[in-house]
Amino acid sequence: ETATSSRKRDHLQICCEQPIEAGDAGFGDVRLVHNALPECDMDAIETKTRFLGKALGSPLFIAAMTGGHLDTLEVNRRLARAAERYNLGMGVGSQRAALEKPELEGSFTVVREEAPHAFLCANLGIIQLRDHGIEWAERAIEMIDAQAIAIHVNSLQEAIQPEGDHNAEECIEALRNLCNEFSYPVIVKETGSGISAGTARIIRGAGASAIDIGGYGGTSWARVERLRASSPELAELGEAFLSWGIPTVVSLCEVRTAGGPIIATGGLRSGVDIAKAVALGADLGGMALPLLRPAMESDDALFRAVEAMHRELRMAMFLTGSRSVTDLRHTRTYITGLTRQMIETTD
Ligand code: FNR
Repeated sequence: ETATSSRKRDHLQICCEQPIEAGDAGFGDVRLVHNALPECDMDAIETKTRFLGKALGSPLFIAAMTGGHLDTLEVNRRLARAAERYNLGMGVGSQRAALEKPELEGSFTVVREEAPHAFLCANLGIIQLRDHGIEWAERAIEMIDAQAIAIHVNSLQEAIQPEGDHNAEECIEALRNLCNEFSYPVIVKETGSGISAGTARIIRGAGASAIDIGGYGGTSWARVERLRASSPELAELGEAFLSWGIPTVVSLCEVRTAGGPIIATGGLRSGVDIAKAVALGADLGGMALPLLRPAMESDDALFRAVEAMHRELRMAMFLTGSRSVTDLRHTRTYITGLTRQMIETTD
């Protein structure tokens, strides 16, 4: 097996078996303003929404996780079944391994087989985009017949890994070229350190259709790499960066100033968190880890997890008097604590 594919398997194992979350995404500092007279019927509330022109069953987005190793095929199969069943958008994990080694494609193509109608996002690292150009982006889309491509940025993880790519030059240029020439929407996505207002403006300026925040406070790559570390020096490096990143809620408040569709990902752990993210300006709320663990277990466990998120989302909508996701977007919030302090920091 290739180094990329065995790293994927390591990650999945570590993510399922060990504590890999760090920090606080900020949702505890956000409160939706309660509506004591909601004047709506909870059972008639519509959770459906639209994203990049596609109708979706709810704002819950299955965030990019896996593929690229045979052991990951079953997980992707289950995630895809959930995407199809509830009409959820879904991202696959980085397709790099399968682009390098086409015999690994099966762990990705299974997603389209199981979810013939779902909104699927291909996934490629910005470094691979820079080094291989649009051809790889096209192959990634074709592999799963995707509706959009997520270009992930993960400087922290690249920097921690000794085998990572430590040169991030000329990535913006590569992104601009892709956005100019590609016929599919491009989503730029962080993977746990968040995106600032300034970076969001650069991303929008390059022509990207949407931003996935991938904020701090959920799955922590510093923590994953610390657990995977082969030497005390590497473990120390992971340790030193455990609290690095822009918390998801703070990042969301920054990114929304740049305009354009937003997926809020990173540390969303309930349907209430999805509701909070939407009220703060996100179009979708993405979850990785909370869906990975049930997806490792069974179809049923995963369906139950999705239904629990939807129940919580619906109740939060009811209690804010939101009949639709559009109503939810206009719901007031209170923001307190460290999150508020960070949002008010302008210099
Ligand atoms: C990820 N994530 C990720 N993101 C990406 O763009 N490409 C990828 O290949 C992966 N791989 C991956 C594997 C595993 C096991 C996990 C848990 C996550 C990042 C993911 O999409 C998301 O941005 C973060 O995990 C934050 O969300 P959660 O986990 O806090 O809900």
